[in-house]
Amino acid sequence: MGRMRAKRNIPIRMERCHERWFDDPLLNKGHWREACGFAADVPVWLEIGCGKGKFCTQMAQANPDVLYIAMEKEPSVVLAAIEKAHEMELPNLFFIKGDANLIENYFDKDEVDHMFINFCDPWTRQNKPKRRLTYRDFLTKYKGFIKPGSKISFKTDNDELFDFSLKEFEESGFELTCLTRDLHNSEYDSSNIRTEFEQKFADQGINIKSVTAVLK
Ligand SMILES: C[S@@+](CC[C@H](N)C(=O)[O-])C[C@H]1O[C@@H](n2cnc3c(N)ncnc32)[C@H](O)[C@@H]1O
Repeated sequence: MGRMRAKRNIPIRMERCHERWFDDPLLNKGHWREACGFAADVPVWLEIGCGKGKFCTQMAQANPDVLYIAMEKEPSVVLAAIEKAHEMELPNLFFIKGDANLIENYFDKDEVDHMFINFCDPWTRQNKPKRRLTYRDFLTKYKGFIKPGSKISFKTDNDELFDFSLKEFEESGFELTCLTRDLHNSEYDSSNIRTEFEQKFADQGINIKSVTAVLK
């Protein structure tokens, strides 16, 4: 009953934060800076599967000169992220309620400067590697809107997904940098912002794996 009511409330609560999202984000393809009120030379950063928004809100706050767009497919989850951004009054953070399977419809050539994929579903138990957001077919889609020198920063708790992703990046024309299998005890930790899932896994004593793949 409680959950039913919460679900019915989603449209009303989304409406209260309407400045954070677009009725038809597909129309912004090639025009994200303009649509969000930013100058043509502002870097665009894109996060896929942002969850409840801990990472994207802190990233947008720490990088005020960047236009940060966060995508999430689950309505109640993206709502939590949107409300967080609304509460923090972050001027540079916007959301897409949508599925990364269709990402090529949302962004145009050279539109994105840096991407973030954090703790995406590993699809190991179901043995469906083609569904992983770092599978080569996804990387091909991303290459349609990032440019040489653009980065994809990737973090996971899952060894199998990490090894798979390193291979996919390398075989898709990316150079691997900042690679670590123990992020929280590495030189990269001082600038690291922890996601919700990252904190949960760290609390369980699981080492966090991370890499930044640069398109050659
Ligand atoms: C395991 S959670 C991680 C959330 C967050 N990145 C974190 O690290 O705390 C994965 C998230 O990605 C979202 N997701 C999975 N596949 C997606 C897709 N194809 N498009 C958009 N979001 C997706 C899920 O709904 C979920 O919220």
